[in-house]
Amino acid sequence: MMSQSSFTAEAQATARPFIKWAGGKGQLLPELSRRLPRRFRRYHEPFVGGAALFFYLYNEGLLQQGAVLSDYNPELILCYQAVRDNVEQLIELLQEHAIHRSDSDYFLQIRKWDRQPGFEQRSDIERAARTIFLNRTCYNGLYRLNNKGQFNAPFGYYKNPLICDADNLRTVSKALEHVELCEGDFWEVLERVQPGDLVYFDPPYDPVSSTASFTHYTGQSFGPDDHRRLAELFTTLKQRGVYVMLSNSHTPLTRELYAHHPEKSTVLASRKINCDGRKRGSVEELIVCSYQVEPVV
Ligand SMILES: C[S@@+](CC[C@H](N)C(=O)[O-])C[C@H]1O[C@@H](n2cnc3c(N)ncnc32)[C@H](O)[C@@H]1O
Repeated sequence: MMSQSSFTAEAQATARPFIKWAGGKGQLLPELSRRLPRRFRRYHEPFVGGAALFFYLYNEGLLQQGAVLSDYNPELILCYQAVRDNVEQLIELLQEHAIHRSDSDYFLQIRKWDRQPGFEQRSDIERAARTIFLNRTCYNGLYRLNNKGQFNAPFGYYKNPLICDADNLRTVSKALEHVELCEGDFWEVLERVQPGDLVYFDPPYDPVSSTASFTHYTGQSFGPDDHRRLAELFTTLKQRGVYVMLSNSHTPLTRELYAHHPEKSTVLASRKINCDGRKRGSVEELIVCSYQVEPVV
């Protein structure tokens, strides 16, 4: 039996995302948090990325009934597992990487592990430390794979990137202590949810134009058919009495897919990662809820 305090932040430090992630929801938190259901049971985040909303809920003590975080990206899930289960060993490895934080040759040497035989045999902790190191030193913190599934974001040339924030990693490790972590497609959430649970879907954006959005987090793009599958799942979960909240870009496709859900609104969000730097700026983001949102008093 899990103690009541297992999922509360108590008097401890604030847990923050330990990985920079394209589409991270830090800036949208005020809009998301005011749309949360007043009460919910277990929390599920099937496109976890940097887990901004999970950390918010943890810090607010709102995860008493547990949480499941999942993502299609296996290297990302290894990072969460390493932080949860082996944080001290991970910190040691990150401190070793940190010595070389400004060395582009070292970056390339670590980056090419996944092009070499034996990558799969490396330990989970080594792979997790590699992903965090690359995330902290590559251009824009962009997790990008080529079509062979190899990491190919270029070196970021940061002067003094923080590779190992040991205090935050330890706090995050505590936050993850009783969290279930799964690798896989978002559809699998259907096997895990119960009525009264809360699911937050934050899929790769439906592109607002052919060059505007980044959808290659996993080596496979997330296309219109995936967005349709997701809209179908949204409706299925709603019918099962699950609280569902979803954010996406506001496009003709997403407008059409969620047209029949009354609880939706658009908010302005700034996009950081864009192929064309001139097009960075505010875009409309759609937030859809499967339940009636309580007005703020
Ligand atoms: C917009 S990001 C999520 C950002 C996250 N909410 C945050 O605050 O950082 C989308 C995530 O979806 C994941 N993803 C892509 N295709 C997926 C799929 N079919 N099933 C589950 N996750 C997927 C990507 O690996 C990426 O981490």
